[in-house]
Amino acid sequence: MELDVIFLPSGLGNLLGRTAVVIDVLRATTTIITALQNGCPEILPVELSEEASALARKFGRETHLVGGERKGFKVEGFDLGNSPAEYTPAAIAGRKVILCTTNGTGVVKRVAAAQVKPIYLAAFLNAPAVAERIIKEGNPTTVVCAGREEAFSLEDVLCAGAIATRVLAHTGWRGTDGARAAATLWEKFGGQDLAEVFTQTDHGRYLVSIGFGEDLTLAGRLGTHDLIPVWREGRVLALDENE
Ligand code: MLT
Repeated sequence: MELDVIFLPSGLGNLLGRTAVVIDVLRATTTIITALQNGCPEILPVELSEEASALARKFGRETHLVGGERKGFKVEGFDLGNSPAEYTPAAIAGRKVILCTTNGTGVVKRVAAAQVKPIYLAAFLNAPAVAERIIKEGNPTTVVCAGREEAFSLEDVLCAGAIATRVLAHTGWRGTDGARAAATLWEKFGGQDLAEVFTQTDHGRYLVSIGFGEDLTLAGRLGTHDLIPVWREGRVLALDENE
C-alpha cells in the first residue's frame, strides 16, 4: 500500500480512490482538534471572512460561533481567533464553529473539492492516532501539508514525517519519495522539543513575534489526543471511535 506526502497543496494531483490527511500544525488543524475535543460538535471551514460573517448572521450566536484569523490576528467581528488556547469548553459552550483561516481551512476545502473520501485532519496532537487509522484502513493515502501561502512549512512536513514513520514501519506499506523525505526530516527533528523547533520555523517565528508564542507549546504536544477530525459534507466532525 502506498503512502504519499505532498509538501504543498498546489501539488495535489489526482486523489481519487485515496484517503487524504490535511495538516496545518500552526495553527488550523491544532485548533480544530482542540475545539472538537472541548465540546464543539462540528466545524464549518470556510475560505473567505465575508462568507464566515454571513453564515454567523444566518445561524445566530446561540448555536454558532465564528472564529479565525488574518495575518494571525482575530478578524474584526469574529468571536474567536485561531489560537487553540481560545477554544476552551467554556468559550465553546457546546456551539458549532464557523472557522476561516488564511491557509488551513481553504486547503481542507480544496482537497474536498477533489472528491476525496475520507479526509482526515492531523496535527502533532493526534499524529499517532491518525497513523493507526491509516494502517487500520489499509487504503492508499496522501498526506497534504497546508504550508504557508504556497510556501513549504517545516512544522507541517515534520508532522507528516511523524505519521509516515509510523505507517511505513508496518509491513506492506511503501513510501513515495515525499513520504520518505518527510520521515527522514522527522528522524532528524523528532527527538527534540517540538515547541523549540517551531521557534525556528517561518510561521513559528512570526507567531512568536505577534505574541502567540504559547501556541507553539500547545501545538508541539505529540500524541495527546486520540480524536481524529473527519470531513463530512461541508463540515468537520470527530470521527466516531467505532467507525
Ligand atoms: C492558517 O490557516 O493559515 C493558519 O492556521 C494561520 C495561523 O492562524 O497561524
